[in-house]
Amino acid sequence: MRTTLLRMLTALTCVLAACADIMPVPDFSLEKIAGKWYMAGFATNAQWFVTKKDTMKMGTAMLAPTDGGDLDLSYATLNADGTCWRMTHLAKKTDTPGRFTFHSQVWNNDNDMRFADVVYDDYAVVHTIKTKEGVSEVLNKLYSRSNETSTDLQQKFLQFSQDTGILSENIVILPKNDECPEA
Ligand SMILES: *[C@@H]1O[C@H](CO)[C@@H](O)[C@H](O)[C@H]1NC(C)=O
Repeated sequence: MRTTLLRMLTALTCVLAACADIMPVPDFSLEKIAGKWYMAGFATNAQWFVTKKDTMKMGTAMLAPTDGGDLDLSYATLNADGTCWRMTHLAKKTDTPGRFTFHSQVWNNDNDMRFADVVYDDYAVVHTIKTKEGVSEVLNKLYSRSNETSTDLQQKFLQFSQDTGILSENIVILPKNDECPEA
């Protein structure tokens, strides 16, 4: 009885969290992914997001490949009070092109990040599995080269996020925002 319950719980956690194995796009190009992106969409069942999603706005991401094939990520979002929220990570390459890993000291979690869908001059869907103390959750982000996204693209992001276990109400197209000055 108890093992059955445990197994059911594990299966449920799988569905809700991180068990769909999303592969990166074939022929991933580090060179072409470089540059500035707008953070147009955000989707996760994480509790912090559920309480914050209504006030979140569009930010920017600068992606800078390193000589060694890793990826420097710099995020910036303008807060309502005019200050800037900034965060950087060095995403380390793996044996699979388009898949990177990093540890976040701020959140104290391990991140397994995959470029799941990319049109380099248009958009990228980034799927990240975040694991902290053995618990995993999914974060999907929609990167866009412009601060506008088509309804087709929004629909694609919605569908991808639903397919990876995110509840509809936790899939958000972020409203436009002024930008932070370059750091
Ligand atoms: C969105 O992008 C356009 C074109 O680059 C720019 O003119 C506009 O100021 C941007 N909007 C915001 C809110 O940043």
